Amino acid sequence: MRRVLLLAHRVPVAGSFTLNDLAGGGGRMDEIARAVSTMFTLSNGLRTDAEMTILFVASPPPKARRIEIAGGRLRYLNPDERSTAALLKNALVRSIPEEEDVESSPGIRVGPAEPEEAIRRFAGHPGAFWLTERGEPYRSSPLIDGGYAAILSDPTDPSEAEATLLSDLSLPRISLGPRSLRTSQCLDVLNQEADLREAVRPATPDG
Ligand SMILES: C[S@@+](CC[C@H](N)C(=O)[O-])C[C@H]1O[C@@H](n2cnc3c(N)ncnc32)[C@H](O)[C@@H]1O
Repeated sequence: MRRVLLLAHRVPVAGSFTLNDLAGGGGRMDEIARAVSTMFTLSNGLRTDAEMTILFVASPPPKARRIEIAGGRLRYLNPDERSTAALLKNALVRSIPEEEDVESSPGIRVGPAEPEEAIRRFAGHPGAFWLTERGEPYRSSPLIDGGYAAILSDPTDPSEAEATLLSDLSLPRISLGPRSLRTSQCLDVLNQEADLREAVRPATPDG
């Protein structure tokens, strides 16, 4: 399985933004939507072996939110950024009055989150790593064999508290090269590497 935890720092967690201003009032929802599209869409289909958690961190109120996307059950994801942003915005809006998780559309679950707990839980996946420019080279890393579990950030780097937590969890740090890439570009590189390795050695059923 290919798993990603994306830390989103500026998107209004109540979904209170217009689709006409994703980069500004949307708190860089344009890049979050692009990352979702990159993670799940192929030329003629969807990656069913992919899962993504997006942690929308915000100062209260309201509380932080967590969107979980499961490629195997995902419906209504089109390749364009605007309609992807609409799916995510709809999820955030749906979650606001709720104390429990809800499925806002097939394959997309949303609910309140405790950021530290969410990061700790994701870090519990075997072989989980932190994608950062200052890490070990990905090409020689065994952590991408048969799938991966990667934590990365939106256009804002992890906060000091997040970086401290990631360090305290002793997660391996993996680099995709010396240049600082966009979030969506990181996922392209990672999936390309995983695709190439899978072509040589097919993934195990549970990844
Ligand atoms: C757009 S970058 C963050 C901002 C960037 N550090 C800057 O100052 O422009 C988004 C995230 O992608 C990941 N990332 C970007 N380039 C990377 C690289 N070369 N190797 C590994 N991760 C990278 C990191 O998780 C980073 O926090």
